[in-house]
Amino acid sequence: MTRRMLIAGNWKMNGLQGNRQEIDALTSLLGGHAPDSLDVLICPPATLLADLGRDCAPGGIKTGGQDCHFADCGAHTGDVSALMLKDAGADYVIVGHSERRADHHEDNALVKLKAEAGLRAGLDVIVCVGETLIEREDGRAADVVKSQLLGSLPDGASAQNCIIAYEPVWAIGTGKVAGLHDIAQMHAHIRAVLGENGGAELAQARVLYGGSVKPGNAKDIFVLDDVDGGLIGGASLKAADFAAIVDAALTVVNHNP
Ligand code: PGA
Repeated sequence: MTRRMLIAGNWKMNGLQGNRQEIDALTSLLGGHAPDSLDVLICPPATLLADLGRDCAPGGIKTGGQDCHFADCGAHTGDVSALMLKDAGADYVIVGHSERRADHHEDNALVKLKAEAGLRAGLDVIVCVGETLIEREDGRAADVVKSQLLGSLPDGASAQNCIIAYEPVWAIGTGKVAGLHDIAQMHAHIRAVLGENGGAELAQARVLYGGSVKPGNAKDIFVLDDVDGGLIGGASLKAADFAAIVDAALTVVNHNP
């Protein structure tokens, strides 16, 4: 089974109405439409989701939320539900990003509930995992990622509706990329854990790498066996950089049709 590459941009808490022009620029840099052979996704802040969804649709670019509440609706001031994201045109939601795990004390159990809310709403979920620098230096990276996976994966996860993003915390926004050997090893480990716990089908879930992916390093990362695309933060904010990363993925896809 061939896994379809996914290049996902995570705008984080960046983006005002004026930044919508990046989508037009991105679409034209992609030649008017996202390549048919891979998925291109932008996850803007919730305030821009509906508008950006309309901007993205003609170019075949998907949109997603960056987080959701675990409940479908109710008295949760300031929160956004997965149903609301879906209603605003999203196809995906990111859950368990390390910035949410750190800034909002989200643990695996909560991430799992959020992922399940995403699936209930009909969204594909991108579940983020990744070790801190101390955990890596202590030789615990594989164990940490395994327990994050086992604790955060939603019931009902399948290769169709669930995507894993491996993002070493120390590589996010720092310009430090994990070594290619370490990325390859961790992605193979993640796939093995998926297989042990969800069988052969779940083992075919897409596994993205995230953490300082840039136009200059994207191809070397995407060409690795168990890497099925990237979750891109900083470099997704500039249409030219993001388009170059999509092009890098396309080169890899075209070499392994
Ligand atoms: P970065 O962020 O590309 O800016 O390192 C990646 C992410 O946090 O998803």
